[in-house]
Amino acid sequence: MTSAQAADTPLRDLAAAKGKVVGTAVTGSKLTGSYGDIAGAQFGSLTPGNAMKWGSVEPTQGTFNWAEADQIVAFAQAHNQQVRGHTLVWHSQNPSWLTNGTWTSAQLGTLLQNHISTEVGRYQGRITAWDVVNEPFNEDGTYRSTLWYNGLGADYIASALTWARAADPAAKLYINDYNVEGVNAKSTALYNLVKSLKERGVPIDGVGLQAHLILGQVPSTLQQNIQRFADLGVDVAITELDIRMALPADSTKLAQQAADYKAVTAACVAVTRCVNLTVWGFTDSDSWVDSTFPGYGAATLYDANYAPKPAYYGVAEALGGTTTTPPPSTGACTATYSVVNQWNTGFTGQVRIACSGASLSSWKAVWTYGAGQQITQAWNATCTQSGAAVSCVNASYNGSVPEGGSVTFGFNASWSGSNPLPTVTLG
Ligand code: XIL
Repeated sequence: MTSAQAADTPLRDLAAAKGKVVGTAVTGSKLTGSYGDIAGAQFGSLTPGNAMKWGSVEPTQGTFNWAEADQIVAFAQAHNQQVRGHTLVWHSQNPSWLTNGTWTSAQLGTLLQNHISTEVGRYQGRITAWDVVNEPFNEDGTYRSTLWYNGLGADYIASALTWARAADPAAKLYINDYNVEGVNAKSTALYNLVKSLKERGVPIDGVGLQAHLILGQVPSTLQQNIQRFADLGVDVAITELDIRMALPADSTKLAQQAADYKAVTAACVAVTRCVNLTVWGFTDSDSWVDSTFPGYGAATLYDANYAPKPAYYGVAEALGGTTTTPPPSTGACTATYSVVNQWNTGFTGQVRIACSGASLSSWKAVWTYGAGQQITQAWNATCTQSGAAVSCVNASYNGSVPEGGSVTFGFNASWSGSNPLPTVTLG
């Protein structure tokens, strides 16, 4: 493949040409229609968002529910996709029988070993990589106080990795955490752990950087951090990328988000051992962000109606895609000017502001008239004209344009000579 690819080349093909795999977290029940089409066409790897967690697969002790996990693995096989298994050992989303039980250290070790053997064994040969241990660290780099740490000590991590290796020798074994994307106390603790596990001969193949990021806050040391793990001799995956913004989204935020997604992708592309970049849901209609971080959202690559956002093109560009139809520079809200009625000295005009994949809480539409064009009166907006420059701001009641919605305003104006249609931009 050449390095330049058409914009409509699927992300998975762009990634493959760079030696990478681009993936997404998925919800099994949604894998039909547009959601299934995009999941299958654009991504080379799937991660079950919840389906493989202990609380999902063994809600009652000894009673297993593999339905959603099986479905996702089958979908992946049918679409020639890898599966990242997520996750075996965590402090969260465990079944209540486990968290409410009183266990001796020996019992806890047996429960964990059986859990890992059962789940990893079930999917043996079908999982490319397992997030064996999830979120073991506090922000200051100390171990998180969990059922596992408190019951088994820090070596629960080495034990879990060893049991996972025994159950599927081919699966790559990862430790996964958040806020470890840049160089900081937490990522340094993870670094030191991986270094010591390797020195001890404990099986560890990779680290997962979750990358639940905030708009405009891609760590400047991301690539450097990926590189230092690679230099330890392990693979790196961006495992749960999303970039949330304070709602409502607007064109400026969506452009920043595109730049942020592009920067994260570029950092992975720059390091050979960064093997996988997975987004935590690919549509704003299937993201954990909105319910988890009140007031934030619009964190993914596609809007809620499955239209690719500027962020999608940011990822594509970092993977070597050329954007043949660039997203409009004003983002996903556009203004269209039309003349609805015209007579010998005057005319009535209208501007429609429509949003797709974005929304506005206020707006200003500006344009430049030619000689002889002069606004005399406007409705549903306040318009001023200074020389040739026209500026119209929303009325108090129509500043809000929802995603997928539109507003219009109208005006009367005079003209002489000619009455050309100006280009309206949103400011
Ligand atoms: C999230 C899921 O996306 C949600 O649906 C669920 O309610 C909570 O967990 N870090 C992880 C993921 O490792 O498993 C979490 O997934 C998001 C944070």
